[in-house]
Amino acid sequence: MPDIHDLQVFSDGDALAAHAAALFAQAARETIAARGRFTVALTGGSSPKGTYERLARPPLAGGIDWASVFIFLGDERFVPPDDERSNYGMCRSLLLDHVPLAPDQVLPIPTNTATPGEAALAYAKTLARVFAQPPDGPPPALDLILLGLGDDGHCASLFPGMPTLHINDRWVVSSPPGTLPPPVDRVTFTFPLLNAARQVVFLVTGAKKAAPVRDIFEGVAGVDQHPAAGVHPTNGALTWLLDEAAASGLKNR
Ligand code: 6PG
Repeated sequence: MPDIHDLQVFSDGDALAAHAAALFAQAARETIAARGRFTVALTGGSSPKGTYERLARPPLAGGIDWASVFIFLGDERFVPPDDERSNYGMCRSLLLDHVPLAPDQVLPIPTNTATPGEAALAYAKTLARVFAQPPDGPPPALDLILLGLGDDGHCASLFPGMPTLHINDRWVVSSPPGTLPPPVDRVTFTFPLLNAARQVVFLVTGAKKAAPVRDIFEGVAGVDQHPAAGVHPTNGALTWLLDEAAASGLKNR
């Protein structure tokens, strides 16, 4: 169960997005200063859109050394990049197309393989290459992973009750659709890869998230019911950014 100290509540989605974008920019600056590059996994869904839009424009865009940033996706719908359901497509249109990133710095999950399983294997190899780690060893530590929370408590494409929640020996796997739209196959980071990150930040807005947020913070929902409860970076920081609507079910704040 996440600690209540991991939580910050904002008046609305705009205030949350402003904070999240500033957090991203600061993490990028500090990490590049300390280690020379910044590796980040973006999330899909609607909650991060305001954050991406802010990162794409002044003043934040100009304060980031984009040449040292490497962009991954924490999960993807198995559709072409120009499909309106593509997480990469959304990230491109709001952020990636507007900042100076070279092609080799943007690492989307492939969706042109024959199956989502092959895409997952290929993406694990991409991670292994960029982090210079063997693909069958411990997962790499991304500097920042952004996540959303589904109305059913899922995160990335780790859905309630699915076997993917208990995969501990792979970094990236395929997943059949969950119960929420869109009903397409997915490719997703696993818990070992999520929990290896230096920092994980949840972006959560809207009243539909109030019940899963309450259940996760009160510890009444386990990983099988609300997968986001399984995100606890082993050596990293965990931050939940909520708007008032998403936080409305919490008793203690
Ligand atoms: C996806 C996601 C998913 C998303 C949540 C929350 O591909 O849909 O990456 O995990 O973050 O479903 O989505 P919203 O922000 O739209 O509520």
